[in-house]
Amino acid sequence: MQIQFGKTTIDTHYINPFLHSVFGEYIGTLIYDGTYVGIDSPIENIDGLRKATVDGLKEAGVAAIRWPGGCTADHYRWKDGIGKNRKSRMPFSVSQQGEFRHDYGTDEFIKLCRLVGAEPIIVANVATGTPEEFLNWFEYCNGDIHTKYGALRAENGNPEPYNVKYWGLGNTDENVWHIAYNDPVEYARDFRKYRTVIMGSLGDIKLIGLGLSERHETYGWVESCLDYITGGQKQKGPDSLSVHHYIGGMKARYYECEESVCYSDEAYTFTIDALKAYQTDIDLHRKYIAEHCSPKFKTTICFDEWGLWHPEATEENGLNQAQTMRDAIFAACSFHLFYKNSDIVEYAMETQYANVLQSLFETNGELFVNTPTFYVFKLFKEHLGKYMLPVSMPENDDIDCFASADSSLDHITVSAVNKHLCRSYELDFSALSDRYDIVKADILTSQSVRDRNTFETPDAIRDKPIRRTHSICLPAHSIVRLCFYRKIEPFPKKWTQKSIICE
Ligand code: AHR
Repeated sequence: MQIQFGKTTIDTHYINPFLHSVFGEYIGTLIYDGTYVGIDSPIENIDGLRKATVDGLKEAGVAAIRWPGGCTADHYRWKDGIGKNRKSRMPFSVSQQGEFRHDYGTDEFIKLCRLVGAEPIIVANVATGTPEEFLNWFEYCNGDIHTKYGALRAENGNPEPYNVKYWGLGNTDENVWHIAYNDPVEYARDFRKYRTVIMGSLGDIKLIGLGLSERHETYGWVESCLDYITGGQKQKGPDSLSVHHYIGGMKARYYECEESVCYSDEAYTFTIDALKAYQTDIDLHRKYIAEHCSPKFKTTICFDEWGLWHPEATEENGLNQAQTMRDAIFAACSFHLFYKNSDIVEYAMETQYANVLQSLFETNGELFVNTPTFYVFKLFKEHLGKYMLPVSMPENDDIDCFASADSSLDHITVSAVNKHLCRSYELDFSALSDRYDIVKADILTSQSVRDRNTFETPDAIRDKPIRRTHSICLPAHSIVRLCFYRKIEPFPKKWTQKSIICE
């Protein structure tokens, strides 16, 4: 796509709001406490859903929520999570503290999505489920009340179909490793079976298939899988390919990131540099798609698990970890990378939204706090639904900058990250000052890069307004977001505003 900037034509692409998506599964206290507190809870809630989480996801501009997993998808029995008298099942992970509760199921998840204004993305159990179970779940969500499962949904108080458009067929990590889909054709056959059972309703349904995660060393897997699904590049492949990649001291290749709060300056630099791996993943999947999918059908990338995974986040503590300003810088640079590649990256899910890994919120009973990552979402949401603008900057590895605009160029948003730990920089926007006013200017930073928000110090790191001038200072380890609005054209001399209104 191209837009006109003054006399220049710019090649650009759309920044899909789905790049601000989140993932939330049954791990640690993400669902029970972080999301669902129950209708009788003294904690403020809407039909059992924690109100602060609903409001926070809205404020963060979250466009889609992926559920129920992750690995949970491979164990999830959707029928156990609907209707009255739901029983717990045996847990499949120690993080579920002795039982797998079903109080929060499909209806509650859809309610959360509706309240947030986000699209639901449901991941089907391809690993230990059956195509029939998937068909029934699909009908429960999308069938009208004359269908068997649409009628069941109506009985449960929801007569209108949910119209769930986005479905994941399996989970990239666990499917390949736990279920031993080491043979890509085995998964490809299952993908085709699952697609076949809903063939009559495919319409604008989008199916997300498996790609690679950071644990895979199995190059050749995606290529063979796509060759089988597309029948040798003749038929339609998956609408999107799932990619998972965690960076951080918990992961074998990233020990040098060290711990969540106690890390050296070298570990900080290593962590932010490690983000290059996301570009490699995107380039790799872009190549797979170009070479192994038919050009007649569109396949995109769904980066459905991304974030920092620190060594403190173990199954025993429910994958809970602290976040510092380093996590915010990492999130900001990740978003820039996804926006820059949004011609092919259609979705990106921060993992996971409450109490687990690089979350947006931490909760504990009555207590609730926003993490630094939440503020990056909040500031950067201005880019969503806009078009990328080229940024020309002197060669500088410390500053990571991104700009976007609406198609009429009335609104320009710029975000800039100063990754350096002690140097500050000046950014000069005087070239825009004739035609644009700065209407919003905000910064996210902290005294020390190791600062963090806790229940006791909830505002150690939060967005703050700064002076709206065309020359902006970026202190060390800071993130700035600026919104420029085109100046209103002055009225032609012989008219007055009053005369126009009268006419
Ligand atoms: O996000 C935690 C887990 O990490 C997910 O369930 C799984 O897909 C990945 O390995």
